[in-house]
Amino acid sequence: MRLLLVMVLLCGPVAVHAAGDPVRGEKLHDSCLGCHGTALYEPPKAKIKTLAALKKEIERWNDRMNPKFNKQEIDDLVVYLNRDFYKFAQ
Ligand code: HEC
Repeated sequence: MRLLLVMVLLCGPVAVHAAGDPVRGEKLHDSCLGCHGTALYEPPKAKIKTLAALKKEIERWNDRMNPKFNKQEIDDLVVYLNRDFYKFAQ
């Protein structure tokens, strides 16, 4: 029983979801709208197929942003785009 408890405690943090805030992400996303709207995130246009690829894509575009988003803000953007458009399982 005690061993089981230890295992649950050890595994706990791994199960925690990405700590992004979609409400903040939606606001931050205004600065991405200079180049494209949100139609690009939905079928038939959307090309991104996984949550990991979505994060990579946002990081890639972030290289063009000035000022750049920090890690927390990128997580916020990922969670926002996933909640409203991509809807990948987390
Ligand atoms: C300099 C112009 C520019 C800026 C700024 C920009 N994007 Fe893009 N983005 C593009 C273009 C162009 C494409 C389409 C590339 C293609 O068709 O493969 C794209 C594609 C994407 C895609 C892939 C869509 C898909 O599923 O195929 C995502 C996600 C994305 N942008 C997110 C963002 C986010 C988030 C920001 C703000 C951090 C941002 N972009 C800022 C030009 C821009």
